Amino acid sequence: MISEYVKVCHESELSEGTTKVIEIDGDSVILAKHDGVVYAVEGYCSHDSGEFKGVDNHFCDGQIECPRHHGRFDIKTGEATRMPAVAPISTYDVKIENGEVFVSIEER
Ligand code: FES
Repeated sequence: MISEYVKVCHESELSEGTTKVIEIDGDSVILAKHDGVVYAVEGYCSHDSGEFKGVDNHFCDGQIECPRHHGRFDIKTGEATRMPAVAPISTYDVKIENGEVFVSIEER
């Protein structure tokens, strides 16, 4: 399969330790900057499909916290790190070219 990258924003729109909600093909995607690296994960929780919108206040130590039941996920791997979430969420490839952020939503 060929990866198709979509330009989503300028890197300067992402501050260290914060997230940004974007949409790609109608699907919610979360961008997060952690230790200077931009990551992208799906915008829906694996526990009960809670939306991560507004997750900005729930991002700490490289983990996003679902606002609904407070399950947590590693932003790098998508792995669930706190109950009640147990299944991982999808992570997406990110590349940065000339300060622009591109995301490939093809699942890894
Ligand atoms: S919907 Fe996210 S922890 Fe329940």
